[in-house]
Amino acid sequence: MKKYIFCPAIVGAFLSLVSCMTNEKLDRISVKQFGVLDDGRSVQVYTLKNSTGSSIDILDLGGIITAINVPDREGHLADIALGFDNAKQYLTDSPYMGALVGRYANRIARGKFSLDGNDYTLAINNIGNALHGGIVGFDKKIWQSTARTTDDAAMLTLTLLSSDGDEGYPGALTATVTYTFDDQNRLTIAYHATTDKATVINLTNHSYFNLNGHNAGSILDHVMMIKAGTYTPVDETLIPTGEMAPVNGTVFDFESPKPIGRDIGAGEQQIQFGLGYDHNWVLEKSAPNDFELAATVYSPKSGRMINLYTDQPGLQFYTGNFLDGTVAGKENANYQKRGAFCLETQHFPDSPNHPNFPTTVLRPGETYETTTVFEFGVIDRD
Ligand code: BGC
Repeated sequence: MKKYIFCPAIVGAFLSLVSCMTNEKLDRISVKQFGVLDDGRSVQVYTLKNSTGSSIDILDLGGIITAINVPDREGHLADIALGFDNAKQYLTDSPYMGALVGRYANRIARGKFSLDGNDYTLAINNIGNALHGGIVGFDKKIWQSTARTTDDAAMLTLTLLSSDGDEGYPGALTATVTYTFDDQNRLTIAYHATTDKATVINLTNHSYFNLNGHNAGSILDHVMMIKAGTYTPVDETLIPTGEMAPVNGTVFDFESPKPIGRDIGAGEQQIQFGLGYDHNWVLEKSAPNDFELAATVYSPKSGRMINLYTDQPGLQFYTGNFLDGTVAGKENANYQKRGAFCLETQHFPDSPNHPNFPTTVLRPGETYETTTVFEFGVIDRD
């Protein structure tokens, strides 16, 4: 009978060989066709995967995040991003689900602004105002894509050329966005842009999250903290009045964590204008443009949590007020009002018409650079 001798060195060498092979086998990024648009253009989907088994799917169409699979407190994966199975729906049915939004995320009043003495008129697409970059914004264009991996992350870089006059905006703009998904379940979104003529810019990502799963019903039980002592009140068309109002003692106070649903039905006029939360919070920073924690949100039920970090001055917290169950989502999901929330890091809405807001002007020779991180984690029971 053969005798086997236990030799830690040999076992160790064997295990490191296996782990090395596993690492080599870890296919951090893969690509396949997601669909074909009516005009014949093919849409690719990249899957960025990490060593923990979590993954994020991103299209070259609009840089759209179509799925985010992350674990709950028991380690069970679920897809927490709302979206569609069909590429065409992102052009026809989508309220910017998962998309990169530009050239100017959020609203510009009456689609008009002046810059260096020139008046510009933008495409109007939202009750008399310009919203999210216009009729064919960055979310509806196919971006050039390049994928690569590092030792602990998958990266997808997307580039878009937006011509001078695109949706009314001046200047030929080159925008580059890099998504990085690492082994700590952090999704980093790094935005970069340059222009050949003075323009305005405000880029964001418009993912809709439900931390219990993309089709798990209401998010009103999720607990939210926003690091902001003021917000920018709006008129009935959701254009800022120009004021920065304290949140203290109002329904907008999320400085201490509270359930999203606690005050949402309070009958407050601002809430009526937005049909819920659809406002810009002025993030509290140690210094302007500091990259800091901006918000945290968790679901007491699943334990899933997002820590949001950004260098941007504002955060649009939107509670899916216009979802109404009329569009067929992924896996025949029926997304209802309050079925998701968005955390849109941004400059303040309508900044080009409010000199007291941080500037959104980008000039030739300057570089627009900004970074936002969504860190997906879990929290134990409260
Ligand atoms: C806006 C909402 C809008 C939603 C989808 C948000 O950023 O503030 O008013 O309905 O995007 O377009």
